Amino acid sequence: MTNPDYPLLKSQLLALIGDETDALANASNFVALLFSALDEVNWLGIYVMRNGELVLGPFQGKPACVRIALGSGVCGTAAASRQTQRVADVHAFPGHIVCDADSRSEIVVPLIVNDIVIGVLDIDSPIPDRFSMVDQEGIEMLCQAFCESRRGTTRFI
Ligand code: SME
Repeated sequence: MTNPDYPLLKSQLLALIGDETDALANASNFVALLFSALDEVNWLGIYVMRNGELVLGPFQGKPACVRIALGSGVCGTAAASRQTQRVADVHAFPGHIVCDADSRSEIVVPLIVNDIVIGVLDIDSPIPDRFSMVDQEGIEMLCQAFCESRRGTTRFI
């Protein structure tokens, strides 16, 4: 497994977004770019915040659960705490929500614009302890670039 070049990915993400303002299109390309760049990932996608709960948005992988309550599972914990959740063993995470039975480790990064949690980026791997601190910092940098590119827009549609 090779580490992706996160600074290069940031340049590619910003180039893909360009001056496009459509939040759904930009989120879809963000997800596709990162999924194609990461090894050993079986699911990668965005859950968007809608009326206080997380709802499935653009993703790559098998069909997944549609709604996740704030505070539930890894995604709901990341959204409620506004902190990245890097989980080496999903079976050891209390309340982990199984969507793809292949998943063994997971990282979820909150997406925050103007101090508002607009959603989370969720990445699952079939490999235990797949995500390193280098991955966490790189993925957080990409999420920050994605959020900053939204020019303050806090809704996906
Ligand atoms: N495992 C997540 C649910 C989403 S799926 O992995 C796509 C969770 O515990 O929140």
